[in-house]
Amino acid sequence: MELADYSVLKRVVFDDVYEPAEDTFILIDALEKDIELIKNLGPGICLEIGSGSGVVITSLGKVLGYPYFLCTDLNPIAATATKATSQSNGVPVDVITSNLVCVLEDRLKNSVDLILCNPPYAVTPSDEVGGNNTFKATSGGVKGREVIDQILHIVPKLLSEKGMFYLTCIAQNDIDDISQCMKAHNLQMTKVLERRCGIERLCTLRFSYKNYEL
Ligand SMILES: C[S@@+](CC[C@H](N)C(=O)[O-])C[C@H]1O[C@@H](n2cnc3c(N)ncnc32)[C@H](O)[C@@H]1O
Repeated sequence: MELADYSVLKRVVFDDVYEPAEDTFILIDALEKDIELIKNLGPGICLEIGSGSGVVITSLGKVLGYPYFLCTDLNPIAATATKATSQSNGVPVDVITSNLVCVLEDRLKNSVDLILCNPPYAVTPSDEVGGNNTFKATSGGVKGREVIDQILHIVPKLLSEKGMFYLTCIAQNDIDDISQCMKAHNLQMTKVLERRCGIERLCTLRFSYKNYEL
């Protein structure tokens, strides 16, 4: 899968917007690994929560021409960056500045076929969670789970019956517990990719109601 060109974003943008890094690339690599599965799924609506530079959704959009692509980000500058990246690559993406999916939760109920998220997962003090700067873009609070837990709560409401949810996280987020939380909603977890990156052990997880073992 070809990485979307985000050179339209000038360096100064990354003072305010999360710059693509290893956690971004493991999510893109996981989508690439699963690309035949995703194509077979034939997603109608694809949503990325916390799109930042827009490189994840745009990279997928370059391979999958047909779904309706929608993104949210809490940071309005990130929302503008996502729009710029998608437009410069010719991928139509609607972008909404929103806390998670708040403004759309009712309208998207059980209808999203693909949800992507590289959330703020770093273990930090709780008072560092939320906000618009690049530092806070990664601050996940206790166990790095404060934003992740909100996302785990929303996903079962949005995901369609055939849908799949991809989540990047680190070992400290307690992956077994994440799996149990989603099992309570009948969502099965598969570890798509795992790699060491400095002191972090990154993984991208896939959740689905159906068993999509390859
Ligand atoms: C780790 S960055 C990932 C950005 C991009 N998806 C990537 O992989 O490079 C997390 C993103 O989530 C956004 N974010 C953090 N909390 C959020 C929230 N409550 N609702 C929506 N977006 C949020 C941040 O602004 C940031 O752009």
